[in-house]
Amino acid sequence: MTAELIDGTAIAKKVRAEVKEKVAKRIADGKSQPGLATVLVGERIDSATYVNMKQKACAELGMTSFHHPVSSDITQEDLETLIKKLNADPKVNGILVQLPLPDHLDEERVLQLVSIEKDVDGFSPINLGRLAQKGREPLFVPCTPYGCIYLLKEAGVPISGANAVVLGRSNIVGMPAALLLVKENATVTVVHSRTKDLPAAVRQADIIIAAIGRAEMVRGDWIKPGAAVIDVGINGIPLLNDDGTPLISEKTGKPRQKLVGDVNFDEAKEVAGFITPVPGGVGPMTIAMLMANTLRAAEIQDK
Ligand code: GUN
Repeated sequence: MTAELIDGTAIAKKVRAEVKEKVAKRIADGKSQPGLATVLVGERIDSATYVNMKQKACAELGMTSFHHPVSSDITQEDLETLIKKLNADPKVNGILVQLPLPDHLDEERVLQLVSIEKDVDGFSPINLGRLAQKGREPLFVPCTPYGCIYLLKEAGVPISGANAVVLGRSNIVGMPAALLLVKENATVTVVHSRTKDLPAAVRQADIIIAAIGRAEMVRGDWIKPGAAVIDVGINGIPLLNDDGTPLISEKTGKPRQKLVGDVNFDEAKEVAGFITPVPGGVGPMTIAMLMANTLRAAEIQDK
């Protein structure tokens, strides 16, 4: 292995410890306890797990969380009424609507309704618009892209002037990551499923942010020697027996899976200068940055 491993678990732990200390200090100073409202629509297991982790993080860091699980058949009007109620509640500093929403709901209208001062996910069109504009600053930056940039900075990777390639153009990761890199003065290329020659584009990159959702798609020979590789992907692939058949769990009777990123780690680590593992890279940073954003929301609302 030639690449330096960027340990997201350790860096996230440090961010959380800093937030925890600042929360304790503000409470000792007689200020309010930061509060995060989580809105979970429906019963998606992955969404429920993420929201549960966010609530636990709040408790660990001395913040309050207010959970609002609602039925998957909630009407647009009722969901909007809930958001308006949370906007008006002084105990709620941050509002997080877990995505994706069921198809019958208008996600854009919901996100547009979240007060920009409480938009700890950074998904409001105003915060995203400011991120896209020169000389303007959003109040909050989306948590996963924020975590990616934080990891690069912690590892000492120069961003200004670097060629950065972002794989994927989602609203949650790819596009805001590209906008953040532009703000940091990188020269940014966004590549996606329709890009003609993906490997050639990626080979130009000093910084690669892979958020395309395809298991181990980025191969070692796509990577410029010494590049920094930030792997946002979380993909389950089947574990195999020696004879190539799927390995079945004795406990559940189901095929066993392992988690891999969008980058072929074993190949990439021999070429890259820096690399994040999966799991233990970007994953833990998303919640750490959400906690930092929630504290910031409370500080903004003090004023
Ligand atoms: N779904 C997947 N990632 C996220 C995230 O960072 N925030 C929200 N609200 N939903 C998500």
